[in-house]
Amino acid sequence: MATEIRAVRPDEFEEFRRTMGVVFGFDPPDGNNRVLRLLPLDRTRCGFDDGRMISTSGAYSLEMTVPGSRVACGGTTAVVVAPTHRRQGVLRAMMRAHLDDVKEHGEPIAALWASDSAIYGRFGYGCASICHDIEIEPDHARLSRLAPPPEPARMIDRAEALEIVPPLYDRLRMEIPGFFARSPHWWEDRSFWDSESTGSTTNLRYAVVDGEDGPSGFASFRTKAHWDEGHGSGKVIIQDLFAATPEAWAGIWSMVASQDLVARVESGLRPSWDPIFDLLAGTRRALTFRYDALWVRLMDVPAALTARSYSAPVDVVVGVEDPLGDLSGSYLLQADRAGAECAPTTRDPSVVLDLEDLSAAYMGRPRFRRWARAGRLSGAPEALTAMDAAFAWDPEPWCPELF
Ligand SMILES: CC(C)(COP(=O)(O)OP(=O)(O)OC[C@H]1O[C@@H](n2cnc3c(N)ncnc32)[C@H](O)[C@@H]1OP(=O)(O)O)[C@@H](O)C(=O)NCCC(=O)NCCS
Repeated sequence: MATEIRAVRPDEFEEFRRTMGVVFGFDPPDGNNRVLRLLPLDRTRCGFDDGRMISTSGAYSLEMTVPGSRVACGGTTAVVVAPTHRRQGVLRAMMRAHLDDVKEHGEPIAALWASDSAIYGRFGYGCASICHDIEIEPDHARLSRLAPPPEPARMIDRAEALEIVPPLYDRLRMEIPGFFARSPHWWEDRSFWDSESTGSTTNLRYAVVDGEDGPSGFASFRTKAHWDEGHGSGKVIIQDLFAATPEAWAGIWSMVASQDLVARVESGLRPSWDPIFDLLAGTRRALTFRYDALWVRLMDVPAALTARSYSAPVDVVVGVEDPLGDLSGSYLLQADRAGAECAPTTRDPSVVLDLEDLSAAYMGRPRFRRWARAGRLSGAPEALTAMDAAFAWDPEPWCPELF
């Protein structure tokens, strides 16, 4: 019998979580419906074989910052296929249904975090941002002589954090491609959620640096106490850490990274431009692991390309090959710092590329000449150079949270 793909009903939500738990390796706690407050069930697309759920997927309705603007974005999430049904085309069927849903919602882009970088290119998603996991030993968290004076941080409780941190996040969100709007439920049920399954770590701690109009720096973190032959050698695990000024970056990082009784400080999902890389006296002491972060797929080429800003003028016809076929065609893009126009055209393209690479460049991290050198795409060198200059954005995209 063919797999049926459809949205789940509310009474199937527990089965949805159990199906996810089997594949992602967790046992969902009973009666916890916080996910229901965030994930619209009518945007799930799950697979059923003979009435039994065998795969899940969903979409958050996000507002995502792109260079110079913000757009509606289908936030692809909760994608699993049961081990009994893998490699039979179920993901492909779910992605078709999911992308049709994103299109129906009129969202010009879709975005996701991938469990593996080999999966989503075939659906036209491109790796739009990279991130770093960082590990620092507090003994080596000393700041460079060129660092600004770190501003003092203070600890706050969860209630105060819920009140004063979202406005700081929203200020940063306006500037940084890859940040997405967090609703009050998102703050309560995700960002500041203390999960029952953290085991031996503490609940979240919250710290802020005070600026003139509210906090200018923020960190949330957990600690894990450990003693080695009588010496404190615990771990600090940072969840969120962001700031609005150099002094606040220096202040919040140096407080969190230089605590007593701690041997290691870990932080995931850091941007390549995290000031910590330029603030530490001994950068080599910060161990980093780099990987692909946000994957983006354009859902409507003209709508997406005109929604963002550009760093330099460009006037180019791009031939786009969509591996799903939906968006294949040639498009004329004419943009400068004042705005952009884009429309389908019958003119011959000077650059021909897969939708995966156009989507990868979209958030402000283009590598058109580099991709041409690698043979991923073809194009006139001057057109590729102009596209690299136009699509680049400062700061580079950073999505600070996995969804
Ligand atoms: C990844 C996963 C969703 C794939 O589901 P699936 O139903 O087996 O995938 P399909 O059979 O529809 O495969 C579709 C295509 O993706 C490819 N593919 C599937 N999983 C892949 C993987 N992990 N790495 C590389 N390619 C993969 C298939 O080879 C197939 O390629 P083709 O159509 O070009 O020949 C499933 O294995 C799974 O649930 N894994 C664990 C959870 C996970 O990683 N989820 C993704 C979260 S972002």
